[in-house]
Amino acid sequence: MFRELHPSKTYRLLESGPVVLVATGTPEQPNVMTMGFHMVLQHSPALVACVIGPWDHSYRALRDSGTCVIALPTVELAETVTKIGNCSGRDIDKFAAFGLTARPARTVSAPLVGECLANLECRIADMSLVERYNLFVLEVTHIHVDADKAERRLIHHAGDGRFIVDGDTVDMGGYMTKWRHLMD
Ligand SMILES: Cc1cc2nc3c(=O)[nH]c(=O)nc-3n(C[C@H](O)[C@H](O)[C@H](O)COP(=O)(O)O)c2cc1C
Repeated sequence: MFRELHPSKTYRLLESGPVVLVATGTPEQPNVMTMGFHMVLQHSPALVACVIGPWDHSYRALRDSGTCVIALPTVELAETVTKIGNCSGRDIDKFAAFGLTARPARTVSAPLVGECLANLECRIADMSLVERYNLFVLEVTHIHVDADKAERRLIHHAGDGRFIVDGDTVDMGGYMTKWRHLMD
């Protein structure tokens, strides 16, 4: 079961820089790529900057529909994540090839990835840096988090197909005096 998380909390999921999947197309004709180059730009409306190159089939799909879903895979998907990033939707149906489930999103035409811990529905907010850097600014319009998923460790690409797996959490919330308004 996915539960909702307000889009203004996007930074809690992405600030740590996990490697993500980007789903485009539709639930009937989905595609997915792997992405490491992303950053949160703004809390609310939540904005995320992503580098998606014209060599990716996903680039045209994102430009054409104006939407995508950023999905957060956990550690058991590391092999799949790497394989997804080493083949193209031009040649194969990656959802079928890698046993992924495309599910309808709420606010965008692009599909959710059912196996992922969280799915962030996004639409293009600014294309002014696409020509120069292949950098899309996306607004997160809805977030689904799988509250029941036992595995919650995200993976961080360290280069050359090596991933750092999430470890212990240290809670310094008591010192967040300047940022109380962002906490709940
Ligand atoms: C770990 C990893 C990280 C990647 N990060 C990015 C990225 O940030 N931006 C990008 O354009 N491609 C990135 N790629 C490459 C794409 O995932 C790859 O070109 C993919 O095959 C594109 O699929 P598509 O043609 O179906 O869109 C990455 C690949 C891997 C394995």
